[in-house]
Amino acid sequence: MPARSVFRLVPLAFAVFLIAPLEVAHAQDAEEGARVFRRCVACHTTEEGKPSRATGPNLFGVVGAISGTRDVGFKFSPALSEAAIEWNDENLEKWLENPRKFIKGARMAISVAKEQQRKDVIAYLKQVTQ
Ligand code: HEC
Repeated sequence: MPARSVFRLVPLAFAVFLIAPLEVAHAQDAEEGARVFRRCVACHTTEEGKPSRATGPNLFGVVGAISGTRDVGFKFSPALSEAAIEWNDENLEKWLENPRKFIKGARMAISVAKEQQRKDVIAYLKQVTQ
């Protein structure tokens, strides 16, 4: 290979070097998500068949379900069930960013400010609730 072609590859190599770690950092990480989920356990259980707490619904099967409709022995707000949105990644993100802005009249009072933490906790939810 002539020396000039080798030099042409140098910027490319640098680009890969710079971008690769960013990709890793932005992947969803269920293990990190488990840590974020500690903020949710006061109100949510995740195991199949485990009763809902008085403070919030059991979340088993929530990913892919329609909001406020699962039969988990919890009285959802009319706002949440009437919204009838599917709990896909996009909607879960918006929900966790600001539940009561996303669905006016919903009753969940906490939010997860950091985008990476939202992605991680969603990855965790997928792992443990389906
Ligand atoms: C202070 C109690 C509380 C905390 C903490 C809490 N939630 Fe909730 N969550 C609720 C309540 C209450 C509802 C039902 C809201 C309604 O009926 O309007 C809910 C609903 C949900 C739903 C929708 C359930 C469905 O079937 O439609 C998801 C998903 C959810 N929470 C995820 C989380 C995650 C993830 C966390 C932690 C980052 C969290 N929640 C923290 C109280 C809480």
